[in-house]
Amino acid sequence: MEVRGSSQPLAKVDADALAVPVFKGEKADNEFLKTLDKAVGGLIGSVIKSEEFSAKEGETAYFHLSGGGLKARRLLLIGCGERGDYKARQVSQMAGTATRFLRSKNAKTIAIVPRGDDDAEKTAQYVIAGAIMGLFEPDKYRTKEKEQREITSFEVVIDGADKGALQRGVERGRIIGESVNFTRDLANEPGAYMTPIIMAQRAKAIAKEFGLTFDALDQKQMEKLGMGSLLGVARGSDEPPRMIVLKYTPPRKAKSDGLLALVGKGITFDSGGISLKPGENMELMKYDMTGAATVFGTMRAIAQLKPSIPVLGVAPCSENLPSGKATKPGDVLRAMTGKTIEVINTDAEGRLVLADAIAYARKLGATQVIDMATLTGAVSIALGDVNTAILGTDQVLIDAVIDAGREVGEKFWQLPLDKEYSNQIKSDIADIKNVGGKKAGTITAAAFLKEFAEGISWAHLDIAGTAWGDPATPFRSKGPTGIAVRTLVEFVERAARGN
Ligand code: BES
Ligand code: ZN
Ligand code: ZN
Repeated sequence: MEVRGSSQPLAKVDADALAVPVFKGEKADNEFLKTLDKAVGGLIGSVIKSEEFSAKEGETAYFHLSGGGLKARRLLLIGCGERGDYKARQVSQMAGTATRFLRSKNAKTIAIVPRGDDDAEKTAQYVIAGAIMGLFEPDKYRTKEKEQREITSFEVVIDGADKGALQRGVERGRIIGESVNFTRDLANEPGAYMTPIIMAQRAKAIAKEFGLTFDALDQKQMEKLGMGSLLGVARGSDEPPRMIVLKYTPPRKAKSDGLLALVGKGITFDSGGISLKPGENMELMKYDMTGAATVFGTMRAIAQLKPSIPVLGVAPCSENLPSGKATKPGDVLRAMTGKTIEVINTDAEGRLVLADAIAYARKLGATQVIDMATLTGAVSIALGDVNTAILGTDQVLIDAVIDAGREVGEKFWQLPLDKEYSNQIKSDIADIKNVGGKKAGTITAAAFLKEFAEGISWAHLDIAGTAWGDPATPFRSKGPTGIAVRTLVEFVERAARGN
């Protein structure tokens, strides 16, 4: 799909279909809708008046136009709820609804008039990213009834906008939307097609394409470094693990001493290991590498947007399977930092691979770490699929991530991490144990990670509840959501600008 911006008046927009947002309570009497209504012979006024369409979020009204004052052949009205709530999130969702809906109607060329309050650059970015994300489908391996229709061109129309700003926004939106879909594509792959080795190949490919440095530690190298925590998870599997490292180095480095690392859990399939999971929904555990995929997607975008600070991406990748060699409940592992861990439950493996990854990021010079992981089922109980949990040791960092999320339309909610929670992970025979009992499962998982984030600024995102969308919505297919990529890109760019 070709994407572009246009600052033409809407009557001149040439496309198979034109999509416009409509807000709750709006009548066809304000300047924008009045002009449009007139051009389409009163269709808008009539559909609103009939109460067939009330502009609830995600609602649509669709017309074929004959003659009239528009060059576009069809018109799609998209409900966007309250005018005052129409921010980045709603703008992107509106664009996703437009592309999904109009693709299903076989429209090839689409234009959107977003009516956003942000400047043209931002509005165009949110529209294009949302439009591209809307088109993601998880049906890669379907041979029949596959979604085969394709939109060939997509135009965001902001009357009178500065052409340069519009162009920048379109390009940024394209980079970000494609990178979110890159993450979703990896997360969607079956375990057999996305092993740690294949993860490394995919990371290497983006490094080559967009100019990042790439490294992947193999088992021997990890043994040398004493990564007993990660290796304890990998032991039950025939597929070898990898610690994947991507690095972005800016063309012109801003003055800054610290180094930010993004660290993502890369369990390419989580069966639970010896503490085997129940069969129901186990197939979803292919997406237990979404944290790693989020790191790759974010690095892929950063490499193209070129902010002025260096960023490290670290992805500890392994399967978690049972076998005669597998780590057993009761075993004790020694992490890279020297800390000993009693494994109570082999299904709490994400924190084990992250422990060595955070330690390795520190070894590579990271002073600030944001990790992301499909870490606990408990986070869905606490926050459902609406908010991503954020916890950490640096309130300034946590607030900055939450703020970046608010800007781009992704929601985070902080959970507490008082030191008392650490009592729950005390072990009788080792330094710590890998589960903290039934209470506060998301928090005790974070308390475990905190043990490996000493001396650095650290935040942790538990994306287990938000990384997989079910059911589909008007703006997004069922399946991987790509959550947090947009937020992390925004966070890095803000950090590079020094705010
Ligand atoms: N990968 C799972 C968490 C998960 C659950 C992700 C559902 C996505 C959807 C993780 O490795 C896990 O199994 N966690 C256990 C921890 C428990 C044994 C302390 C859990 O949440 O049940
Ligand atoms: Zn698990
Ligand atoms: Zn897991």
